[in-house]
Amino acid sequence: MNIRNFLDNQVSQALQAAGAKPGTSAIVKQSSRPEFGHYQANGVIGAAKQLKTNPREFAAKVIDNLDLSGIAETVEIAGPGFINIHLSQTWLSSLASEALNSESLNIDKTDKPDTVVIDYSSPNLAKEMHVGHLRSTIIGDAIARILEFTGHTVIRQNHVGDWGTQFGMLLTHMQDIEQDDQSLTMQLADLEQFYQAAKQRFDSDADFAQTARDNVVRLQSGDPEYLKLWQQFIDISLQHCEDIYHHLNVLLTRNDVMPESAYNNDLSSVVEDLNTHGLLSEDQGAQCVFLDEFKGKDGKIIPMIVQKSDGGYLYATTDLAALRYRHKTLDMTRGLYVIDARQSLHMKQVFAVGKHAGFVPQSTQLEHIAFGTMMGDDGTPFKTRSGGTVKLADLLDEARQRAFDLVTLKNPDLDEQNRRDIANSVGIGAVKYADLSKNRTSDYIFNWDTMLSFEGNTAPYLQYAYARIQSIFRKAGNLSQNHAIELNEAAEIQLTLKLLQFSEAIDSAAKDSAPNLLCNYLYELAGQFMHFYESCPILSATDAIKNSRLQLANLTANTIRTGLDLLGIAVLDRM
Ligand code: ARG
Repeated sequence: MNIRNFLDNQVSQALQAAGAKPGTSAIVKQSSRPEFGHYQANGVIGAAKQLKTNPREFAAKVIDNLDLSGIAETVEIAGPGFINIHLSQTWLSSLASEALNSESLNIDKTDKPDTVVIDYSSPNLAKEMHVGHLRSTIIGDAIARILEFTGHTVIRQNHVGDWGTQFGMLLTHMQDIEQDDQSLTMQLADLEQFYQAAKQRFDSDADFAQTARDNVVRLQSGDPEYLKLWQQFIDISLQHCEDIYHHLNVLLTRNDVMPESAYNNDLSSVVEDLNTHGLLSEDQGAQCVFLDEFKGKDGKIIPMIVQKSDGGYLYATTDLAALRYRHKTLDMTRGLYVIDARQSLHMKQVFAVGKHAGFVPQSTQLEHIAFGTMMGDDGTPFKTRSGGTVKLADLLDEARQRAFDLVTLKNPDLDEQNRRDIANSVGIGAVKYADLSKNRTSDYIFNWDTMLSFEGNTAPYLQYAYARIQSIFRKAGNLSQNHAIELNEAAEIQLTLKLLQFSEAIDSAAKDSAPNLLCNYLYELAGQFMHFYESCPILSATDAIKNSRLQLANLTANTIRTGLDLLGIAVLDRM
C-alpha cells in the first residue's frame, strides 16, 4: 500500500469536512525530519488562507474530522498550521508483516491500467549497436518493468531502422563476397567493420557507388531475390542486438521488433490522410506539414517533411504510420518514446501532427522520454581513445573484465567460474545503474571507477548490501517465517518506515518515468539498513528480538532484490 496516498486521501477528506473547497488537497508528504512525525500535511495553511480563517484553528478543525485510530499514534499541529502525523508502531509492524507475506511486497496495482506502448532501444540495423543506444535500451527497459509491475499493460516496440539508402551499399558489398564462403559470416561478425568497408568502397569507387544506388531501387521495388539478401543481413544484425540484450539483461525479444520497413505500405496513405485533413502543403517539391506551433527563432514555421520531391518518404512519415498503428492495432492509451533529447523537435511534431490528423485521439498521452548524452571524463561525448564510436559489445566486455579484476582482488580464493559469474552481474549492473541513477534528462559522465565503487549510490554497493544480508541468514541458520515484528528501537522504526515506502518510490518512478527515483530510494534503504545493523545487533540478541530483526532483514533483502529487478539488475547471494 502507498501510505502517502492513503494519508493524503484521509486528510484531504477531513479538510473538506472542515469546510475547505471540494478538491482541496492536504498535500501530505514524507516528513523531512523525524521530529516532524513520519508524514506531514502541508495543504492546511493554504486552505485556511482561502477561507480567510486562522490556519492553526482551521488545522484543529481538520484534526477533529480526521479519524486515524489504529493508524497514527499522534496527530499534532506544528508551526503556523502544519499537521504532523506520527504513525503507530503496531500499524507499521503489521504492514511490514503483510509485505513480507505477499509475493509483490504488498504493492498495489493501479486502479486505472493503461495500455502503454514503450518505444525503446530502436537501433539502426545498418550498423552495430553503439553507446548511443545504451541509454534508450536500459532506461526503456526499466520503465517497462516498473509499469508492468504496477499493473499496466505494457507493449514493447523496438522500432529498428532497417530500411533506407545505406542498405544499397551494404548489400552490394555483401553480394561481392562469395555467399557460401565462410568469409561472409566472418565479416558480418563485425558489423561495424563491415559497414566501414562498404562505406569506403562507396566513397572511393564510382562504379560501386552507382551499383549501390541502383540496388536501393531494386530493394525498394521489392525484388524478391534482393529482399532475401536484405533479410539475411537484417537477421544477422538483429542477432547482434539480441546478444547485447541478453548480456544487458534486457527483456526485448524478436517479438517486440516492429521495424521501420513494416510500415512501408502505409506511407502513401499517411500522406493521403494528411492531405484529406488539409494539413499538407508543397514546399520546393516536397510534401510538408506546417503547424503554427512550430515557429523557429526567426519566426518562420519549421515544417515537417513527409515526402521528398523524388517521392521518397522520411523518418517522420514512418513515425506517423507507427503512431496510427499503435492506436488502431495496439489500442495504446499512453505512448512513451525513449529517445535522445536531440530528437525533441521531431517528437513534438510527430505528436502534434498525429493528433491533428486524427491518427490518435486527443486523449492519448504521448510522451517523449528524453535523455541526455553519455559523456567521457573530459566532458565531451563518450568516444574510444582514437575518437571513434564505442561499440556496445566492447563496452560491456570491458565492464565484465574490470569487475572481474576487482572481484579477484577482493576474493582471490574464489574459483574462477564463481568470480566470472559475480563479475558479470556486478559489471553489467554497474553500467546500468550508473545510467539509471542519474536524472535522465541531463548529460552524465561515464566513469568506470565511480560506477564500480562499493561505496556510494552504485550497483555494487546495493548488491553488496544484499549479499551481506544473505550472509547473516547463513549464520542465523533456519529463518522462521511469520515471526512477529517488534519495533522498539528508533533504527528499527526508521528502517520499517523506509521499507514500507517502497510503494511510494515505485509510484513516483512510474509517474515521472524516472528510474533514478527508485535508485535513490534503494540507496537510502541500504543506508538505513546499515545503520540499523550497526545499532541493533541481530545474531547476539535474545530469540524474540533476533527473530524480529531477522524479519526486517528479510524484508530489506526482498525489497532490494525486487527493486534491482525492476531496474534489470541481478543480486548475488555471495560477493
Ligand atoms: N533508429 C532511431 C535512431 O537510432 C531511433 C528510433 C526511435 N524511435 C522512433 N519511433 N522514432 O536514432
